[in-house]
This record gives sequence, structure tokens and C-alpha cells, in this order.
Amino acid sequence: MKTDLASTASHVHQGGSVGRRDFVKVAAAAAAIPMIAASHAAATPGRREPLRVGVIGCGGRGTGAALQALRADKDAVLVAMGDVFQERIDACLKNLTEELGDAAAAQVRVDPDKRFTGFDAYRKVIDAGVDVVLLTSYPAFRPAHLKAAVDAGKHVFAEKPVAVDGPGVRSVLASAAEAKRKNLALMVGFCWRHNDGMKSMFEQINGGAVGDVLSVHTTYHTTTLSKRPRKPEWGDLEFQMRNWWHFTWISGDHIVEQAVHSIDRLNWALDDRLPTKVTCLGGRAARSGPEHGNVFDHFAAVYEYEGGLRAFHTCRQQDGTPNDNTDYVYGTKGMAVVNGWNPTYVVKDLAGKETWRYAGPTDRDMYQNEHDTLFASIRSGKPFNDGERSTNSTLTAIMARMAAYTGQAITWQQALDSAESLVPDALAFDMKIETPAVAIPGKTKFI
Ligand SMILES: NC(=O)c1ccc[n+]([C@@H]2O[C@H](COP(=O)([O-])OP(=O)(O)OC[C@H]3O[C@@H](n4cnc5c(N)ncnc54)[C@H](O)[C@@H]3O)[C@@H](O)[C@H]2O)c1
Repeated sequence: MKTDLASTASHVHQGGSVGRRDFVKVAAAAAAIPMIAASHAAATPGRREPLRVGVIGCGGRGTGAALQALRADKDAVLVAMGDVFQERIDACLKNLTEELGDAAAAQVRVDPDKRFTGFDAYRKVIDAGVDVVLLTSYPAFRPAHLKAAVDAGKHVFAEKPVAVDGPGVRSVLASAAEAKRKNLALMVGFCWRHNDGMKSMFEQINGGAVGDVLSVHTTYHTTTLSKRPRKPEWGDLEFQMRNWWHFTWISGDHIVEQAVHSIDRLNWALDDRLPTKVTCLGGRAARSGPEHGNVFDHFAAVYEYEGGLRAFHTCRQQDGTPNDNTDYVYGTKGMAVVNGWNPTYVVKDLAGKETWRYAGPTDRDMYQNEHDTLFASIRSGKPFNDGERSTNSTLTAIMARMAAYTGQAITWQQALDSAESLVPDALAFDMKIETPAVAIPGKTKFI
């Protein structure tokens, strides 16, 4: 099970993290926390209203994001929690209380009747008088949770990816636009966009340090994620949810769930220019068995752009193979080599001579930076919103999965308009839900 509160498991490897911040202690016995309207969250000189936070999905990232939110704003208070499993709420509360130490009494104040379980827990958290919600459950549920949060006028932190299919992407684009219209924050967990070295590196790339970009290749090569053998008391749905990484309908497959970080950076290297088309080879060679659901274990995507540029992304989850998470950006004047796992941010000229190397801090935790930015933006009344860009990165990954599964070239527009809805309308733990078949390129149809 993933437990690292910052990143959770193998998704992201990053050196260092900031130490615990000093908190101004708020008396634990303080009276009821006043409810404030989202638009009134800006700082009042000398004194700030509390920001009431709710978390939906209390696993690894939910716990990490809650901790970072409470550290980002000493006047933020966690007041509501939701998960489909009670034990995740209990573990999250325990971890938060231990991590926050003295600050926990003031900042973790979740009454027992504000701890919600079940598939409708998200609505109850949103309705529990919160200002900010952290959406950290599984990707399949993000579009519905986000829509409910934005409809109710809440500021949002939403983990990546934001959807698993075309209908989900369209829903999130609409919610992102609505959040903008309502002046609500919507930050998506593309944490590398908040990493000091990455920011500096991509400023160099976008500023012309390698000349005009001719091509990009990003990699996310890693080993497989945990799997949990079925327990007799688990129904079909619980079994799939406990092994969620391995089911395309819940996670989007690993190119969408995990490698989307590298696909987001591929887009970043191109100044967020979007591909017109993708061809993608993929399959599963090293995984089998029910816990591995129906996801592939490798993908190799070729993106095409107007004007003829091509960019490449390869990812795999195969045990016994070397890890790599490097971005190679090729331009008319040289190349950039980017790797956040063993911080490497370098530009070379065409002769291979180093012309720039990042020399700034590498020890600030990008997850904390992310929440610092989010909460400062809410306080300033100018809420951060990267919803549209993040949804585009999610669709860039989804279109490659669609191309790999079907064996066909898929255009951006086709992927965006896709009618294939992977997520069942209503879920219940006693429902029968079979493992979807593994896609067969050339046979599986694009819908
Ligand atoms: N940005 C990053 O570096 C990073 C790292 C890890 C995970 N993630 C993302 O964070 C999300 C969560 O991943 P995780 O590793 O924390 O998983 P996790 O399994 O540890 O936690 C997810 C929690 O959500 C709960 N949940 C699932 N469906 C729910 C629903 N409909 N309503 C309420 N709760 C629900 C689960 O029971 C679980 O407790 C994923 O989208 C993942 O891709 C991002």
C-alpha cells in the first residue's frame, strides 16, 4: 500500500522536503469556526478568517494533500472527510494528527458526524460547510466530484488525472470554465509544474534555450504497482477498487494515471501546444492474473502536430526492467535533458557542450509549493486555475491509450468527442461487475 504522505509510492520520486513549518497556535477550545463565503477569503489585515477544508478520498494523496493544505495556510482547518472505506478515514486522521503535532488540535477538527462513507460521501463533504475541497479519490470519479464542488461554489484541489474518458474530459472542461466564471480556484496535481528545478528548466526551454523545439521524447519507465489478492468478503467492485491501478475504467490505465506527468511535461516543452493526432503501440507482455485487471504494461506513442513536428512518449510498468523518467527536448540550437527523480536540469549545444545547468534549490517539496500557491491565491482573491491546461494534458494521455487499444491513429478531435463512457452510472458494492476484456489492437473498436 502507498503510504508516503508527500507523493505516495512510486508515482513520483523527488529529493528532499521542507521541514515542518511553524504554526501560530490557535486555541483548541476556540468556538465554532465561522463559515465564510468563498469569495470573501482574502486576507483581512491583522486577522484572517479560517478556510474550512474537506477531503474526498482519504488515501495516500488525500492524506498528503490535506497535510500540505494545512501547512500552506495556518488558518486552514480540516472539517470534513469522505471515503468509500471507513478505515481510510481513520488512518488519514491518525496520520494527520501525528504529522501536525501541536497544530493538530486547531487545524484538524473533524466532528464524527462530518466523516462520511459511501459513494455519496463526496456530496456530504461538499455540503458540510467547507470553502475548499481536496479531490483525491480515483480518476474515474473526478469529473462528477469536480462538477458537484464547482456547482456548490467551492475552491478545489484535484489530483491528476482529471478523467479517464472523453465524456469525463468534456465534463471537466465545462467545470474548469465554470470555476473561472465563478472566480473559484481549481488546481490540478501536476506537481512537477511547481517544482523549482522544473520551472526554471522549462522557462529556459520555452524561452528558446534549445532554439526552436524540433522534437521531444519523454519516458516513464518503472515497475508494476501493488496488487491485492481477492478476499472472500470482497464483491466484484471492492476487488476492483482495491486494485484500482489495474482497471482501465477506474484509473485510465498507467499511461493516463501515472505517465500523464511525463505527457504533461511533453506538452510543457512545446509551450502547451496540442497534438492533432497520435499513433500508439502498446500491450501487456509481463502481467497476467485477475489483480492485473485489463490494463496494458507498455505504451509507445507518436504524437503529430501541425507543421509536421513529432513528439514521442514511452512508458512501461514491468518488473525487472530499469527505471527512467527523463525528458529529452531537441531544438535547432541544442537539447535539454530533464529528470526530476535525480534532479538533472541541463541544456547542451549541438556539439554536446553544456550551456546551462540549474543551480537553484532542489530541496523544497513541490507538493508543498503547490498548496502554498493554491492557498495564497485564494487568500489574495485571485484564485489559481489550471483546469483547462491540465485537462488537455489528461486528454493527450487518453488519446494515446485509445490509439493503443484500437491500433488506429486517433485525432485530438476524435478523442475529445469520443462517446465511450468507461464509468458506470451508479455503483454499489453488491453489484456484479466483470473485469473488462484486455483490448486487442486491430480488433477493439474506437467508440
Ligand atoms: N501528483 C502525484 O504525484 C500523485 C501521486 C500519487 C497519486 N496521485 C493521484 O492521486 C489519486 C489518488 O491516488 P492515491 O495513491 O492516493 O490512491 P489511494 O488508494 O491511496 O487513495 C484513494 C482513496 O480514495 C478513496 N475513494 C475511491 N473512490 C472514492 C469515491 N468514489 N468517493 C470517495 N472516496 C473514494 C479510496 O477508498 C482511497 O482511500 C489518483 O488520481 C492518483 O493518480 C497523484
